[in-house]
Amino acid sequence: KRLIFIGPPGSGKGTQSPIIKDEYCLCHLATGDMLRAAVAAKTPLGIKAKGAMDKGELVSDDLVVGIIDEAIKKPSCQKGFILDGFPRTVAQAQKLDEMLDKQGVKIDKVLDFEIDDVILEERITARWIHPGSGRTYHTKFAPPKVPGVDDVTGEPLIQRKDDTAAVLKSRLQAFHKQTEPVIDYYSKKGILAKLHAEKSPKEVTDEVKKVLS
Ligand code: AP5
Ligand code: ZN
Repeated sequence: KRLIFIGPPGSGKGTQSPIIKDEYCLCHLATGDMLRAAVAAKTPLGIKAKGAMDKGELVSDDLVVGIIDEAIKKPSCQKGFILDGFPRTVAQAQKLDEMLDKQGVKIDKVLDFEIDDVILEERITARWIHPGSGRTYHTKFAPPKVPGVDDVTGEPLIQRKDDTAAVLKSRLQAFHKQTEPVIDYYSKKGILAKLHAEKSPKEVTDEVKKVLS
């Protein structure tokens, strides 16, 4: 299956992706994770992306389109993929269509993680991440067994630099202005499915599976 997970910051895209990816043998392509890795490694891409990311603004379409164009061709993605956090502008969605046309494939479903903005600040500001695996925790909703420590590896957890209430405001603004039109774009194509992303992680997983069955 070829899927897109779309939704505001903290809506649960990164929480559901690893579960759904394992269930359907897909690859998980998260532009945010790839960009953060590039920033950490100080690659030319990371250096270009860092300023916008720190401010909670979108990085340029060309940069992210380039990342996806390369990643989507990998053998591990030939059975299908989850695009998490891409496309985020209508221009990115059009570029994606061109890429897929060339490969003779198309997107099966776009899952819209629908949720009210007011819930997101609590989710975002108490999120902890294991950088090695991408595993995500939450102080209240999904606490690790030992605070600040990854359950599986025992390694320390970190918080994302853009996970502050102030930067979240710009991220939400970018979502409403630039990404919501992408939801309309796929709705018109008839492949959009809306999820109740305010429900518990387990209930959201069940909704995704129902849509895909
Ligand atoms: P990105 O990394 O994509 O961040 P985001 O879109 O802001 O999304 P998040 O990762 O914050 O949210 P999520 O939905 O994955 O939430 P999660 O599941 O972790 O992008 C970062 C930046 O990179 C952008 O600002 C931009 O600068 C750049 N960028 C990336 N892609 C780009 C693109 N295509 N174009 C241009 N720029 C791009 O959940 C959050 C928390 O809530 C966790 O703690 C989790 O445990 C908890 N939680 C999850 N589900 C539930 C639930 N059901 N109930 C209770 N708690 C829950
Ligand atoms: Zn994420």
